[in-house]
Amino acid sequence: MKIETFALERWMTTWETRVEFDIAESGIYPMTVRELLDLLPEDAREGTLNRLLDMRLGYSEAPGSLELRSLLAETYRDTTPENILVTTGAIEANFLAFNVLLDPGDHVVAVYPAYQQLYSVPRAIGCDVSLWRLRPEDNFRYDLDELERLVTPRTRLIVINTPHNPTGAMLSAEELQRIYALAESLGATVLCDEAYRWLDLPGGTPLAPPMRDLGDSAVSVGTFSKPFGLPGLRTGWLAGPTDFIAKCWWMRDYLTLSPGKLNDALAVLALRNRAAIVERTHRIVAANLATAERWFADNSAVAAWTPPRAGLLALLHYQLDIPSQQLADRLAGEYSVMLAPGSAFGYEHYLRIGIGQDPAVFAEGLARTAACFADLQAAGTTWRS
Ligand SMILES: Cc1ncc(COP(=O)(O)O)c(C=O)c1O
Repeated sequence: MKIETFALERWMTTWETRVEFDIAESGIYPMTVRELLDLLPEDAREGTLNRLLDMRLGYSEAPGSLELRSLLAETYRDTTPENILVTTGAIEANFLAFNVLLDPGDHVVAVYPAYQQLYSVPRAIGCDVSLWRLRPEDNFRYDLDELERLVTPRTRLIVINTPHNPTGAMLSAEELQRIYALAESLGATVLCDEAYRWLDLPGGTPLAPPMRDLGDSAVSVGTFSKPFGLPGLRTGWLAGPTDFIAKCWWMRDYLTLSPGKLNDALAVLALRNRAAIVERTHRIVAANLATAERWFADNSAVAAWTPPRAGLLALLHYQLDIPSQQLADRLAGEYSVMLAPGSAFGYEHYLRIGIGQDPAVFAEGLARTAACFADLQAAGTTWRS
Protein backbone atom coordinates (compact mmCIF):
# COMPACT_ATOMS: atom_id res chain seq x y z
CA MET A 1 0.00 0.00 0.00
CA LYS A 2 1.31 3.44 -0.98
CA ILE A 3 -0.02 6.18 1.27
CA GLU A 4 0.24 9.97 1.62
CA THR A 5 2.40 11.24 4.50
CA PHE A 6 0.31 11.95 7.63
CA ALA A 7 1.06 15.70 7.69
CA LEU A 8 -0.12 16.44 11.25
CA GLU A 9 1.64 13.44 12.83
CA ARG A 10 4.94 14.37 11.12
CA TRP A 11 4.69 17.92 12.43
CA MET A 12 3.59 16.87 15.96
CA THR A 13 6.46 14.38 16.38
CA THR A 14 8.97 17.09 15.43
CA TRP A 15 7.98 19.21 18.42
CA GLU A 16 5.93 17.32 21.01
CA THR A 17 8.87 16.15 23.13
CA ARG A 18 10.63 19.53 22.87
CA VAL A 19 8.01 22.14 23.84
CA GLU A 20 6.87 23.03 27.36
CA PHE A 21 3.39 24.35 26.50
CA ASP A 22 1.63 21.92 24.21
CA ILE A 23 -1.83 23.34 23.56
CA ALA A 24 -2.24 21.54 20.23
CA GLU A 25 -3.02 18.14 21.77
CA SER A 26 -6.28 16.55 20.79
CA GLY A 27 -6.90 14.70 24.07
CA ILE A 28 -7.61 15.50 27.69
CA TYR A 29 -4.62 15.90 30.03
CA PRO A 30 -3.53 12.23 30.50
CA MET A 31 -4.17 10.41 33.76
CA THR A 32 -1.52 8.54 35.75
CA VAL A 33 -2.01 4.90 36.74
CA ARG A 34 -2.21 6.10 40.36
CA GLU A 35 -5.00 8.57 39.53
CA LEU A 36 -6.87 5.74 37.87
CA LEU A 37 -6.51 3.50 40.95
CA ASP A 38 -7.48 6.39 43.23
CA LEU A 39 -10.90 6.45 41.56
CA LEU A 40 -11.67 3.22 43.42
CA PRO A 41 -13.05 3.19 46.97
CA GLU A 42 -10.09 3.15 49.37
CA ASP A 43 -10.73 -0.43 50.56
CA ALA A 44 -10.66 -1.74 46.96
CA ARG A 45 -7.37 -0.16 45.84
CA GLU A 46 -4.86 -2.58 47.31
CA GLY A 47 -6.70 -5.64 46.04
CA THR A 48 -6.92 -4.19 42.53
CA LEU A 49 -3.25 -3.20 42.53
CA ASN A 50 -2.27 -6.70 43.65
CA ARG A 51 -4.39 -8.28 40.91
CA LEU A 52 -2.59 -6.10 38.34
CA LEU A 53 0.83 -6.94 39.79
CA ASP A 54 0.05 -10.67 39.78
CA MET A 55 -1.32 -10.65 36.24
CA ARG A 56 0.57 -13.14 34.08
CA LEU A 57 1.44 -11.26 30.90
CA GLY A 58 0.52 -13.89 28.33
CA TYR A 59 -1.37 -13.12 25.15
CA SER A 60 -4.81 -11.77 25.91
CA GLU A 61 -8.17 -12.79 24.42
CA ALA A 62 -7.68 -11.84 20.78
CA PRO A 63 -10.83 -9.71 20.24
CA GLY A 64 -10.38 -8.02 23.64
CA SER A 65 -11.36 -9.48 27.01
CA LEU A 66 -14.98 -10.53 27.35
CA GLU A 67 -15.26 -8.20 30.35
CA LEU A 68 -14.14 -5.16 28.35
CA ARG A 69 -16.26 -6.04 25.31
CA SER A 70 -19.31 -6.63 27.54
CA LEU A 71 -18.88 -3.25 29.24
CA LEU A 72 -18.44 -1.51 25.88
CA ALA A 73 -21.44 -3.34 24.40
CA GLU A 74 -23.62 -1.98 27.23
CA THR A 75 -22.92 1.55 25.97
CA TYR A 76 -24.81 0.83 22.69
CA ARG A 77 -28.34 -0.31 21.86
CA ASP A 78 -28.94 -3.94 20.78
CA THR A 79 -25.24 -4.72 21.03
CA THR A 80 -23.49 -7.80 22.43
CA PRO A 81 -19.77 -8.54 22.95
CA GLU A 82 -19.75 -10.16 19.45
CA ASN A 83 -20.47 -6.70 18.03
CA ILE A 84 -17.28 -5.28 19.59
CA LEU A 85 -13.61 -5.64 18.61
CA VAL A 86 -11.02 -4.05 20.90
CA THR A 87 -8.26 -2.47 18.81
CA THR A 88 -4.95 -0.64 19.14
CA GLY A 89 -6.55 2.78 19.36
CA ALA A 90 -9.21 4.28 17.12
CA ILE A 91 -6.53 4.47 14.47
CA GLU A 92 -6.41 0.67 14.08
CA ALA A 93 -10.20 0.49 14.26
CA ASN A 94 -10.51 2.92 11.32
CA PHE A 95 -7.77 1.17 9.35
CA LEU A 96 -9.43 -2.24 9.73
CA ALA A 97 -12.88 -0.89 8.87
CA PHE A 98 -11.67 0.76 5.66
CA ASN A 99 -9.81 -2.36 4.55
CA VAL A 100 -12.75 -4.66 5.27
CA LEU A 101 -15.45 -2.42 3.77
CA LEU A 102 -13.71 -1.01 0.70
CA ASP A 103 -12.37 -2.21 -2.66
CA PRO A 104 -10.36 -0.23 -5.25
CA GLY A 105 -12.69 1.90 -7.37
CA ASP A 106 -15.39 2.26 -4.68
CA HIS A 107 -16.81 5.71 -4.15
CA VAL A 108 -16.38 7.15 -0.64
CA VAL A 109 -17.56 10.45 0.84
CA ALA A 110 -15.38 11.68 3.71
CA VAL A 111 -15.76 14.73 5.91
CA TYR A 112 -13.06 17.42 5.42
CA PRO A 113 -11.05 18.92 7.06
CA ALA A 114 -10.43 15.80 9.11
CA TYR A 115 -8.07 13.54 10.95
CA GLN A 116 -6.12 12.68 7.81
CA GLN A 117 -6.52 8.92 8.13
CA LEU A 118 -10.24 9.30 7.37
CA TYR A 119 -9.62 10.15 3.71
CA SER A 120 -5.98 9.12 3.07
CA VAL A 121 -6.51 5.40 3.82
CA PRO A 122 -9.56 5.12 1.48
CA ARG A 123 -7.46 6.91 -1.19
CA ALA A 124 -4.55 4.50 -0.60
CA ILE A 125 -6.93 1.56 -1.09
CA GLY A 126 -7.69 3.03 -4.52
CA CYS A 127 -11.12 4.50 -3.79
CA ASP A 128 -12.56 7.57 -5.43
CA VAL A 129 -12.95 9.91 -2.44
CA SER A 130 -15.25 12.95 -2.50
CA LEU A 131 -14.70 15.44 0.32
CA TRP A 132 -17.66 16.74 2.31
CA ARG A 133 -16.34 20.15 3.30
CA LEU A 134 -16.98 22.07 6.50
CA ARG A 135 -16.36 25.70 5.52
CA PRO A 136 -15.15 28.61 7.70
CA GLU A 137 -17.64 31.00 6.02
CA ASP A 138 -20.37 28.61 7.26
CA ASN A 139 -18.93 28.48 10.81
CA PHE A 140 -17.81 24.91 10.03
CA ARG A 141 -21.41 23.66 9.87
CA TYR A 142 -22.16 20.22 8.36
CA ASP A 143 -24.27 20.90 5.25
CA LEU A 144 -26.41 17.78 4.78
CA ASP A 145 -27.84 19.01 1.48
CA GLU A 146 -24.28 19.05 0.16
CA LEU A 147 -23.74 15.48 1.39
CA GLU A 148 -26.85 14.41 -0.52
CA ARG A 149 -25.38 15.98 -3.68
CA LEU A 150 -22.02 14.22 -3.18
CA VAL A 151 -23.27 10.62 -2.91
CA THR A 152 -23.77 8.46 -6.01
CA PRO A 153 -25.21 4.98 -6.58
CA ARG A 154 -21.54 3.79 -6.38
CA THR A 155 -21.02 5.21 -2.87
CA ARG A 156 -20.00 2.38 -0.54
CA LEU A 157 -19.05 4.36 2.54
CA ILE A 158 -19.79 7.72 4.19
CA VAL A 159 -17.08 8.67 6.69
CA ILE A 160 -18.03 11.16 9.38
CA ASN A 161 -16.52 12.32 12.66
CA THR A 162 -18.54 13.87 15.48
CA PRO A 163 -17.62 15.73 17.66
CA HIS A 164 -15.21 16.89 14.98
CA ASN A 165 -11.44 17.12 14.83
CA PRO A 166 -10.29 19.88 14.09
CA THR A 167 -13.29 22.28 14.20
CA GLY A 168 -15.31 21.22 17.27
CA ALA A 169 -18.47 20.88 15.12
CA MET A 170 -21.10 18.33 16.13
CA LEU A 171 -23.90 16.43 14.39
CA SER A 172 -27.33 16.27 16.05
CA ALA A 173 -29.33 13.04 16.51
CA GLU A 174 -31.66 14.14 13.64
CA GLU A 175 -28.68 14.79 11.34
CA LEU A 176 -27.18 11.39 12.18
CA GLN A 177 -30.53 9.76 11.37
CA ARG A 178 -30.65 11.57 8.02
CA ILE A 179 -27.11 10.39 7.16
CA TYR A 180 -27.97 6.84 8.22
CA ALA A 181 -31.12 6.82 6.06
CA LEU A 182 -29.13 8.15 3.09
CA ALA A 183 -26.49 5.41 3.46
CA GLU A 184 -29.16 2.73 3.89
CA SER A 185 -30.95 3.88 0.72
CA LEU A 186 -27.69 3.38 -1.22
CA GLY A 187 -26.81 0.04 0.39
CA ALA A 188 -23.75 1.83 1.83
CA THR A 189 -22.28 1.95 5.35
CA VAL A 190 -21.63 4.96 7.61
CA LEU A 191 -18.37 4.90 9.53
CA CYS A 192 -18.70 7.33 12.43
CA ASP A 193 -15.41 8.15 14.12
CA GLU A 194 -16.56 8.85 17.69
CA ALA A 195 -13.10 9.36 19.17
CA TYR A 196 -14.57 12.38 21.04
CA ARG A 197 -17.60 10.54 22.42
CA TRP A 198 -18.66 11.52 25.98
CA LEU A 199 -16.93 14.87 25.52
CA ASP A 200 -19.92 17.18 25.72
CA LEU A 201 -19.02 20.62 27.09
CA PRO A 202 -20.03 21.53 30.65
CA GLY A 203 -23.42 23.24 30.28
CA GLY A 204 -23.40 22.61 26.52
CA THR A 205 -25.66 20.62 24.19
CA PRO A 206 -25.74 16.90 25.04
CA LEU A 207 -24.15 14.60 22.44
CA ALA A 208 -26.31 12.54 20.09
CA PRO A 209 -26.43 8.78 20.73
CA PRO A 210 -23.70 6.81 18.91
CA MET A 211 -24.23 5.92 15.24
CA ARG A 212 -24.15 2.17 16.02
CA ASP A 213 -27.50 2.60 17.82
CA LEU A 214 -29.20 3.28 14.47
CA GLY A 215 -28.58 -0.22 13.08
CA ASP A 216 -26.36 -2.51 11.05
CA SER A 217 -25.60 -0.01 8.27
CA ALA A 218 -23.45 1.89 10.74
CA VAL A 219 -20.11 1.32 12.42
CA SER A 220 -19.00 3.32 15.46
CA VAL A 221 -15.34 3.81 16.38
CA GLY A 222 -14.35 4.64 19.96
CA THR A 223 -11.20 5.11 22.01
CA PHE A 224 -9.85 5.49 25.53
CA SER A 225 -7.41 8.12 24.24
CA LYS A 226 -9.57 11.27 24.20
CA PRO A 227 -12.52 11.00 26.63
CA PHE A 228 -10.61 9.04 29.28
CA GLY A 229 -7.23 10.81 29.01
CA LEU A 230 -5.54 7.44 28.43
CA PRO A 231 -3.84 7.62 25.00
CA GLY A 232 -0.91 5.61 26.36
CA LEU A 233 -3.17 2.56 26.68
CA ARG A 234 -3.42 2.54 22.87
CA THR A 235 -6.87 1.01 23.26
CA GLY A 236 -9.88 1.70 21.06
CA TRP A 237 -12.72 -0.33 19.59
CA LEU A 238 -15.12 -0.98 16.76
CA ALA A 239 -18.86 -1.49 17.26
CA GLY A 240 -20.75 -2.93 14.30
CA PRO A 241 -22.55 -5.95 12.82
CA THR A 242 -21.14 -9.34 13.90
CA ASP A 243 -19.96 -10.43 10.40
CA PHE A 244 -18.14 -7.12 9.91
CA ILE A 245 -16.52 -7.39 13.36
CA ALA A 246 -15.39 -10.97 12.60
CA LYS A 247 -13.78 -9.85 9.32
CA CYS A 248 -11.97 -7.00 11.08
CA TRP A 249 -10.70 -9.47 13.67
CA TRP A 250 -9.40 -11.83 10.96
CA MET A 251 -7.57 -8.94 9.31
CA ARG A 252 -6.16 -7.83 12.66
CA ASP A 253 -4.54 -11.31 12.95
CA TYR A 254 -1.95 -9.88 10.52
CA LEU A 255 -1.44 -6.56 12.30
CA THR A 256 -1.37 -6.47 16.09
CA LEU A 257 -3.03 -9.83 16.84
CA SER A 258 -4.56 -8.87 20.18
CA PRO A 259 -4.74 -5.97 22.66
CA GLY A 260 -2.10 -5.69 25.41
CA LYS A 261 -3.37 -7.60 28.43
CA LEU A 262 -2.46 -4.95 31.03
CA ASN A 263 -3.95 -2.21 28.84
CA ASP A 264 -7.18 -4.18 28.52
CA ALA A 265 -7.40 -4.47 32.34
CA LEU A 266 -6.72 -0.74 32.85
CA ALA A 267 -9.36 0.07 30.21
CA VAL A 268 -11.90 -1.99 32.21
CA LEU A 269 -10.98 0.02 35.32
CA ALA A 270 -11.45 3.30 33.43
CA LEU A 271 -14.78 2.30 31.91
CA ARG A 272 -16.15 1.18 35.29
CA ASN A 273 -15.28 4.66 36.61
CA ARG A 274 -16.42 6.66 33.60
CA ALA A 275 -18.58 9.08 35.61
CA ALA A 276 -15.65 10.18 37.80
CA ILE A 277 -13.39 10.58 34.74
CA VAL A 278 -16.03 12.67 32.95
CA GLU A 279 -16.17 14.92 36.04
CA ARG A 280 -12.37 15.40 35.89
CA THR A 281 -12.66 16.17 32.17
CA HIS A 282 -15.39 18.75 32.75
CA ARG A 283 -13.27 20.50 35.41
CA ILE A 284 -10.31 20.81 33.01
CA VAL A 285 -12.42 21.88 30.04
CA ALA A 286 -14.43 24.46 32.03
CA ALA A 287 -11.22 26.10 33.31
CA ASN A 288 -9.66 26.18 29.83
CA LEU A 289 -12.79 27.50 28.13
CA ALA A 290 -12.93 30.39 30.61
CA THR A 291 -9.24 31.17 29.95
CA ALA A 292 -9.78 30.94 26.18
CA GLU A 293 -12.82 33.25 26.25
CA ARG A 294 -10.81 35.90 28.13
CA TRP A 295 -7.84 35.47 25.79
CA PHE A 296 -9.90 35.78 22.60
CA ALA A 297 -11.59 38.91 24.02
CA ASP A 298 -8.20 40.45 24.87
CA ASN A 299 -6.70 39.51 21.49
CA SER A 300 -9.71 40.09 19.24
CA ALA A 301 -7.73 42.38 16.91
CA VAL A 302 -5.51 39.51 15.85
CA ALA A 303 -7.25 36.21 16.69
CA ALA A 304 -10.75 34.70 16.62
CA TRP A 305 -12.33 31.25 16.86
CA THR A 306 -15.60 29.41 16.52
CA PRO A 307 -15.69 27.83 20.03
CA PRO A 308 -16.08 24.04 20.02
CA ARG A 309 -19.69 22.81 20.33
CA ALA A 310 -18.32 19.58 21.85
CA GLY A 311 -15.10 17.59 21.92
CA LEU A 312 -11.76 19.18 22.64
CA LEU A 313 -10.70 21.02 19.51
CA ALA A 314 -11.21 24.23 17.57
CA LEU A 315 -9.48 26.29 14.90
CA LEU A 316 -7.92 29.63 15.85
CA HIS A 317 -7.98 32.13 12.97
CA TYR A 318 -5.18 34.73 13.03
CA GLN A 319 -4.97 37.99 11.10
CA LEU A 320 -1.24 38.06 10.43
CA ASP A 321 0.31 37.55 7.02
CA ILE A 322 2.42 34.49 7.84
CA PRO A 323 1.77 30.90 6.70
CA SER A 324 0.51 28.60 9.46
CA GLN A 325 3.43 26.16 9.30
CA GLN A 326 5.95 29.01 9.63
CA LEU A 327 3.99 30.49 12.53
CA ALA A 328 3.62 27.11 14.27
CA ASP A 329 7.36 26.43 13.88
CA ARG A 330 8.18 29.87 15.29
CA LEU A 331 5.81 29.38 18.26
CA ALA A 332 7.37 25.99 19.01
CA GLY A 333 11.02 26.92 18.38
CA GLU A 334 11.09 30.38 20.02
CA TYR A 335 8.20 30.37 22.53
CA SER A 336 8.03 26.66 23.42
CA VAL A 337 4.32 26.59 22.50
CA MET A 338 2.68 23.98 20.34
CA LEU A 339 -0.36 24.95 18.24
CA ALA A 340 -0.86 22.76 15.16
CA PRO A 341 -0.63 24.40 11.72
CA GLY A 342 -3.91 24.70 9.83
CA SER A 343 -2.03 23.72 6.67
CA ALA A 344 -1.96 20.11 8.00
CA PHE A 345 -5.77 20.23 7.57
CA GLY A 346 -5.71 22.14 4.28
CA TYR A 347 -6.68 25.49 5.92
CA GLU A 348 -4.26 28.46 5.85
CA HIS A 349 -4.10 31.18 8.53
CA TYR A 350 -5.52 28.81 11.14
CA LEU A 351 -3.94 27.00 14.08
CA ARG A 352 -5.59 24.03 15.78
CA ILE A 353 -6.02 24.45 19.52
CA GLY A 354 -6.93 21.76 22.08
CA ILE A 355 -8.83 22.64 25.28
CA GLY A 356 -7.92 19.46 27.19
CA GLN A 357 -4.47 20.43 28.48
CA ASP A 358 -3.57 21.02 32.13
CA PRO A 359 -5.14 24.47 32.85
CA ALA A 360 -1.89 26.12 34.02
CA VAL A 361 -0.07 24.94 30.86
CA PHE A 362 -3.01 26.04 28.71
CA ALA A 363 -3.02 29.57 30.21
CA GLU A 364 0.75 30.01 29.82
CA GLY A 365 0.64 28.63 26.25
CA LEU A 366 -1.94 31.24 25.30
CA ALA A 367 -0.04 34.05 27.06
CA ARG A 368 3.09 33.15 25.09
CA THR A 369 1.07 32.97 21.87
CA ALA A 370 -0.11 36.55 22.46
CA ALA A 371 3.53 37.58 23.04
CA CYS A 372 4.53 35.93 19.75
CA PHE A 373 1.74 37.76 17.88
CA ALA A 374 2.82 41.09 19.43
CA ASP A 375 6.49 40.45 18.56
CA LEU A 376 5.55 39.63 14.95
CA GLN A 377 3.56 42.85 14.63
CA ALA A 378 6.40 44.88 16.19
CA ALA A 379 8.81 43.29 13.69
CA GLY A 380 6.60 44.45 10.80
CA THR A 381 4.53 41.36 9.91
CA THR A 382 1.62 42.82 8.03
CA TRP A 383 -2.07 42.40 8.81
CA ARG A 384 -4.53 40.41 6.80
CA SER A 385 -8.06 41.73 6.74
C1 LIG B 1 -10.82 11.81 14.86
C2 LIG B 1 -9.74 10.91 15.37
N1 LIG B 1 -9.81 9.59 15.12
C3 LIG B 1 -8.88 8.74 15.56
C4 LIG B 1 -7.79 9.19 16.29
C5 LIG B 1 -6.78 8.19 16.78
O1 LIG B 1 -6.92 8.01 18.16
P1 LIG B 1 -6.29 6.79 18.97
O2 LIG B 1 -5.31 7.40 19.92
O3 LIG B 1 -7.43 6.15 19.65
O4 LIG B 1 -5.65 5.86 17.97
C6 LIG B 1 -7.65 10.56 16.56
C7 LIG B 1 -6.48 11.06 17.28
O5 LIG B 1 -6.20 12.25 17.33
C8 LIG B 1 -8.67 11.43 16.10
O6 LIG B 1 -8.62 12.74 16.36
